[in-house]
Amino acid sequence: MINIDLTGRRALVTGASSGLGRAIAVNLASCGAKVGVNYLKDQVAAQAVVTQIQQAGGQAIALQADVSQPEAVEALFAEVDRAFGGLDIMVNNAGMDGARENCAESQPDHWESVIRVDLLGPYYCTRQALKRMQPQQRGVILQVTSVHEFIPWAGYSAYTSAKAALSMFTKSVAQEVAMQGIRVLAIAPGAIQTPINASVWGNPDSLRDLDQKIAMNRLGEPDEIGRVAAFLVSDLASYITGTTLAVDGGMLIYPDFSHGG
Ligand code: BGC
Repeated sequence: MINIDLTGRRALVTGASSGLGRAIAVNLASCGAKVGVNYLKDQVAAQAVVTQIQQAGGQAIALQADVSQPEAVEALFAEVDRAFGGLDIMVNNAGMDGARENCAESQPDHWESVIRVDLLGPYYCTRQALKRMQPQQRGVILQVTSVHEFIPWAGYSAYTSAKAALSMFTKSVAQEVAMQGIRVLAIAPGAIQTPINASVWGNPDSLRDLDQKIAMNRLGEPDEIGRVAAFLVSDLASYITGTTLAVDGGMLIYPDFSHGG
């Protein structure tokens, strides 16, 4: 039987108080990892994730930090050092879609804040994670990109730009550290039912529209990402680096071509 075993691994998951981050943190912990549950604002929700993990027999701590601020990321990693004495798994999950704004009408500060959270955040965290992983010659960095690493999305040019850039960042850094026992890779979720797209799945018309963009004709569940993330950061995926795995129910396979053409 093949088991995902992360016993003794020290993990940090950003944006883990809800949505995909929460599912990833819970799945990593259920495979035996100690998990730092990073959150921005919602301490109660982060604590609930920690409690859920502990009640299932796992280990976790809640860690507040705004990943878009380099000093805050430095302080976050100092806390990780104190609590875990190092890091083996970094999951850069924290992110936001931002408001829908076409380029010509967009506000530069809105655009920039999406880039800060979705691209600079993973950069700051990857940089700090590598400093811990390089001396031990072991580690995995998993970026949570999106199908919008590949699919254009009108009104969300900051988001798509950040995710496409994060993909190329992932590949370049993977090349830098491949000989040091460190894997750097990405998972590209499609439309997963989380708070980020609640306004879409909360409305029957927009939900139908979204379902039609997915070959399986349904949204994904957070655990369908959490389970794959656990595999990707485990030794079972020891030969995977510098690439993105799409987990999207077939959003990237042009579902419209299932008919006509
Ligand atoms: C976005 C979601 C969206 C999904 C599919 C994700 O990257 O965060 O809001 O529903 O892509 O378009």
